[in-house]
Amino acid sequence: MNEAPSPACIGAGATGGLDLSRIRSIDGVDVRGKRVLVRVDFNVPIEGGAVADPTRITRVLPTIARLAREGAKVIVLSHLGRPRGTISADTSLRPVAMKMQELMPGTNVRFVGDCIGEEARRGVAELRPGDVAVLQNLRFYPGEEKNDPAFAKRLAEHGDIYVDDAFSTAHRAHASVEAIAGLLPSYAGLLLMAEITALGEALENPERPVMAIVGGAKVSTKIEVLTNLVARMDVLVVGGGMANTFLLAKGIEIGASFSEPDFVATAKDIMARAAQAGCEMVLPTDAVVAKELKEGVAWRVCPVSDVPEDAMILDFGPEGTADLKRRLGSVRTALWNGPLGAFETAPFGEATFALAREVARLTKAGKLVSVAGGGDTVRALNEAHVADNFTYVSTAGGAFLEWLGGRELPGVLALARSGAHASA
Ligand code: 3PG
Repeated sequence: MNEAPSPACIGAGATGGLDLSRIRSIDGVDVRGKRVLVRVDFNVPIEGGAVADPTRITRVLPTIARLAREGAKVIVLSHLGRPRGTISADTSLRPVAMKMQELMPGTNVRFVGDCIGEEARRGVAELRPGDVAVLQNLRFYPGEEKNDPAFAKRLAEHGDIYVDDAFSTAHRAHASVEAIAGLLPSYAGLLLMAEITALGEALENPERPVMAIVGGAKVSTKIEVLTNLVARMDVLVVGGGMANTFLLAKGIEIGASFSEPDFVATAKDIMARAAQAGCEMVLPTDAVVAKELKEGVAWRVCPVSDVPEDAMILDFGPEGTADLKRRLGSVRTALWNGPLGAFETAPFGEATFALAREVARLTKAGKLVSVAGGGDTVRALNEAHVADNFTYVSTAGGAFLEWLGGRELPGVLALARSGAHASA
């Protein structure tokens, strides 16, 4: 991957005009013997009780290892999944702590079964400089997602310093992301700093023409982002299940494909805005269809206007994929969040993989700046073995998309505010 650009070129999108140079990094901070709370995003896939993809863990290890090496008592805070304020064994961070210990063999990593209260207090009190404690899932408490100041205070009691290294959670105004930053001296971790510098460059001031590729199942969850994107992008490619709702809005019958008929009017509105803003919207023209989403199932390619009543669109077809590859040749920046099809199930990943390879090829040839984000997208790039050839691959999904759509990110804002406050 290429080097991240300097923070000086970050624009105002994620911070509503607040000066990002106010964000303080951990460089030069004396952490020796101090209790350092590090908010990370360990929202990682767990399969069979173990971490299935450790990318988000490995990406924050430099911050954690550095703090531990410098003699901090490192207290790791994270959420996992959406347990919605209740305790659930499925979303325990224990397997993540075990994975961290495996990845940091020379460090004492312990799991603490609660994030507030007596158990957490004891776990933190037992730490020696250089030790790491992973506290239990923050979302076992409703106060986390409510940005409850009392919950933030209980978390802050464990630390002397707060470090946010969870850029991928920066779009959530939650207690461990936003409220806590006002309670302790607050700094950005190495990953968060790298993410905002790299994404700031690509998203705020992209080399044009710029193409966004957005996939995912539902239009309903991305209305604001899509509406903002058509005002900012030159080309917007819509893939995944959400493309079906746009096809419906164009009066195309889509057989048994997933769609959101209630959002057809929204899709029409977004297309009208795109036309007005001069943003070209690209939808599939042909599709790979099958009667069910299952490996080994019979499939075929057909124009989107010809999808059989009992079949589902599961991927862009070869004609649409070739068209996307052609279009890539005439843009300078490609921003990608969300696969084009059901890539986890063969053969419905072909369009996604082909596009990934082409973006990587053009980037490597110096013809394209490419930035990708989101768990599924990163997984697809890894499967296509091209992630290293992208200009930047973000750990963030929702935060990446919201910034891309021009929204402020509460987590980034909180750090900027805290930095501005400290230097006032
Ligand atoms: C993510 O995976 O994008 C972040 O961890 C945020 O998760 P959330 O969408 O459940 O808030």
